[in-house]
Amino acid sequence: MKKMKIIIVGATGTMGKYLVSALEKDHEIIRVADKGGDIKADITSTESIENLFKHVGAFDALISTAGPTYVGPWKNLNDKEFRKGIEGKMMGQINLVLIGQHYINPKGSFTLITGALTDEPQLNFANASAANGAVEGFVRAAAIELQNGIRINAVSPTVIENSPQYFPFFPGDIPVTMKALEFGFRKSVFGANTGQIIKPN
Ligand SMILES: NC(=O)c1ccc[n+]([C@@H]2O[C@H](COP(=O)([O-])OP(=O)(O)OC[C@H]3O[C@@H](n4cnc5c(N)ncnc54)[C@H](OP(=O)(O)O)[C@@H]3O)[C@@H](O)[C@H]2O)c1
Repeated sequence: MKKMKIIIVGATGTMGKYLVSALEKDHEIIRVADKGGDIKADITSTESIENLFKHVGAFDALISTAGPTYVGPWKNLNDKEFRKGIEGKMMGQINLVLIGQHYINPKGSFTLITGALTDEPQLNFANASAANGAVEGFVRAAAIELQNGIRINAVSPTVIENSPQYFPFFPGDIPVTMKALEFGFRKSVFGANTGQIIKPN
């Protein structure tokens, strides 16, 4: 397999750390996070995203596992809190694509993170459900707009094995193993599909 230059945004998080360790043996990984990684970038700032891509230059694939949202009681959810998901998980990831498309190599790919909450809401997560839905709509639309063979997909797991703190909020869901999550991302990055919402299980 060709060695790829892969940007992982959210590389210091639960999903990101696992994906870095799974992919770094065979590929050049650029680890990006708000406060850590090889490069610091805040996805809520278009200026910060632009600086990220100027610094990295051309690349083959971008994986985003960065999707901040408000998680908490409905009674505390207001305009200000809701914007965490809008500026973060939704516009942050959309701007990674809108800006990154000018730097990505032909036939490159974008893989964004959503989650089962799009279709299966749980208490405390309305902000993530809404942001996921917007990102998934964007993925389907961007797939028919992106030029030069550039592909885009989203990975949409339910709660994952390495996040036991969230298990009580997902009653009845069998946690997705980290291996299944990894292979969902592999399907997007190394496969030929585009506009897909990949549901690892
Ligand atoms: N964990 C689960 O069970 C699960 C299941 C389905 C979907 N999801 C979704 O998957 C995504 C990642 O989950 P996770 O559990 O891996 O989260 P996590 O452990 O909290 O990690 C989030 C990562 O994103 C980075 N990040 C956060 N805000 C950022 C910003 N404004 N700019 C740049 N980077 C930022 C963090 O870096 P800093 O620490 O430097 O901010 C960190 O590297 C979330 O959107 C979540 O909704 C999670």
